[in-house]
Amino acid sequence: MILEGHDLTKVFTTNEGDVRAVDGISFSLDSGDFVAMHGASGCGKSTLLLMSGGLLKPDGGSVVIAGEDPYERSPEARAAFRGEHIGFVFQQFHLIPYLDVLDNILVNELASPGEDLGEKAEELLEKFGLGHRKHHVPSRLSVGEQQRVALARALLRDPKLILADEPTGNLDTENSEIILNHLSGFAEAGGAVLMVTHDDRARAAAKRGMELAAGKLV
Ligand SMILES: Nc1ncnc2c1ncn2[C@@H]1O[C@H](COP(=O)(O)OP(=O)(O)OP(=O)(O)O)[C@@H](O)[C@H]1O
Ligand SMILES: [Mg+2]
Repeated sequence: MILEGHDLTKVFTTNEGDVRAVDGISFSLDSGDFVAMHGASGCGKSTLLLMSGGLLKPDGGSVVIAGEDPYERSPEARAAFRGEHIGFVFQQFHLIPYLDVLDNILVNELASPGEDLGEKAEELLEKFGLGHRKHHVPSRLSVGEQQRVALARALLRDPKLILADEPTGNLDTENSEIILNHLSGFAEAGGAVLMVTHDDRARAAAKRGMELAAGKLV
């Protein structure tokens, strides 16, 4: 299994009392899986995705990615583990406005240089039809192009797992299809994709669905 969640629970404490955002969810994704997670606003999808990606420690249960629980590592070691195994794609892209496209893809490498991935980044840009854009800042790109940059960044280190929160939320049909085709191809090549989406086209592109209601699997 690439990703397993065992009895995952997250409780947020607020002024109005405790919110059981995720309440005892178990699931798993194997190589080749492309799963669309859906459910009403506030049902816990993003919270589950963040816990699954080693970005938010569960209050109960455990996450296993490639055989290891990331939360048993120190925060620094967990960040390295995420870099090695997981690519994230979010609705808001999270591109850095003052870096050009190429440096946005390489941003994690700029912070902690390891092997030189510059050539790989340029290959990905070509593959996504953005070769001519590599020295432009994100604000000069269309939203579809920005999302392709975000996907290229997620793929840079050949992750096994892609976690995507509304990756087509801002996109028109044509750009949605480009992103969904790449996610399908990534799964077919042996990866696993867990995608949160409200979009019917995106749900149709996935191989199976996972519905949440009030923090639980339906
Ligand atoms: N940091 C936080 N502090 C307090 N409550 C939170 C926090 N993050 C999320 N919640 C609450 O947990 C619940 C689940 O939130 P979550 O963001 O996971 O929902 P979602 O399914 O992703 O919704 P949407 O479709 O609107 O993105 C909501 O009631 C939300 O208000
Ligand atoms: Mg959300």
